[in-house]
Amino acid sequence: MANTLEKIVSLCKRRGFIYQSSEIYGGFGSCYDFGPLGVEMKNNIKKSWWDEMTKLHENIVGLDASILMSSEVWKASGHLTAGFADELVECKSCHKRFKGDELKENSRDKCPECGGKLTEAKQFNLMMKTFVGPVEEKASQVYLRAETCQGIYVNFLNVLDSTRMKIPFGICQIGKAFRNEITPGNFIYRMREFEQMEFQLFCNPKEADNFFDYWKKERMKWYEKLGVKKENLRLVEIPKEKRAHYAKRQVDIEYNFPFGWREIEGVHNRGDWDLSNHAKYSGKDLKYFDETTKEKYFPYIVETSVGVDRIFLMFLIDAYEEISGGRTKTTEAKKEIEVLLKLHKSLAPIKVAILPLVKNKEELVKKAKEVYETIKPFFTCQYDEVGSIGRRYRRQDEIGTPFALTIDFETLEKSDVTIRDRDLMKQERIKIENLITKLKGEF
Ligand code: GAP
Repeated sequence: MANTLEKIVSLCKRRGFIYQSSEIYGGFGSCYDFGPLGVEMKNNIKKSWWDEMTKLHENIVGLDASILMSSEVWKASGHLTAGFADELVECKSCHKRFKGDELKENSRDKCPECGGKLTEAKQFNLMMKTFVGPVEEKASQVYLRAETCQGIYVNFLNVLDSTRMKIPFGICQIGKAFRNEITPGNFIYRMREFEQMEFQLFCNPKEADNFFDYWKKERMKWYEKLGVKKENLRLVEIPKEKRAHYAKRQVDIEYNFPFGWREIEGVHNRGDWDLSNHAKYSGKDLKYFDETTKEKYFPYIVETSVGVDRIFLMFLIDAYEEISGGRTKTTEAKKEIEVLLKLHKSLAPIKVAILPLVKNKEELVKKAKEVYETIKPFFTCQYDEVGSIGRRYRRQDEIGTPFALTIDFETLEKSDVTIRDRDLMKQERIKIENLITKLKGEF
């Protein structure tokens, strides 16, 4: 029997959410491609976060910094030293590699796969290297960013000068990050190329603790607003010895995945680690003059950092339901296990399906296409005429489409359609002229 993760992986490939990278060449490990439905859903996740941050907070602005930056950035941030390295051990027999801290306490010298002897642990830096320009020499070596927030810190002065914002204020950014993970895995949970949504609040050091508590609650509220089951989320305070090298305080938001409770987001009080180090390495004055208190200080940074791919997987798992024998009473459905993806409406890749009752009646198909043309500028729609109507509903349920419109013979007489609710399976008739207003009210 496949477990939930295997079922999700299969659904993703079958329906075009996610494919393995470079699959026709045998696949490229730890990288994934988002298909037609995947890219829609990913964009919906990012839009929800972006709107939440920038539209609902007048003191938060956005940024889109470059992936490649001066190598000095990574010296200053501490990412080129032990702070951003994992313990790597290798099996002398099968040559599999493991993260030292993931091995069980009592078997740190034995390979969990083949029982062979393990090498001594050595430090392995996770930064990915590349070269800029035509010559591949040390001087032209740069790094792919390992976290998006460094692009925010190096633009702190630019944003301050160009927006005239006053502390406390925040900058957020969405973008790719790269880490040479020793043990990527669990599908898109841990990858070597992934996307982050990071928010950095610059504040008076005296206020950092309060903002930290505020933001950790705000982030939990966002997940709950998007329908994630409360019992599958928890906040975990990270003790000093396990915190990231820059964190004065760290709380992880964890989700109960099929493979156990795992981090989805980190909330960090980074203190003045970043701005003071960038000031030291760049020689620029990154202190802030506070006109209200007449003090000059390095602002403290409170950060919320989440991986888009990681929560993409979480949303799929949390929404996934199987109904043995099906929800409908038809004999055809009874034989099957029906899959229902109860995604929050705002995250669903397709919002509305448009289905003529049958495809061999020209007038129905013509009318259905007319409805499709009317709706499609406003909502991401899918027109489908292939197979029985029951089968088409199930295809839409499986990808989480909240509403299905059916164009039947009554439509031709009364100019109305049935609108079917994914979760309740309730159907009601609605005039075509009222459809857009009705659907706008749903999203
Ligand atoms: N700027 C802080 C920072 O990067 P982090 O805890 O290293 O903190 C934040 O990463 C989030 O980025 C994680 O909670 C996770 O959601 C995501 N993330 C980190 N490494 C990842 C990986 N290898 N694959 C997918 N997501 C990852």
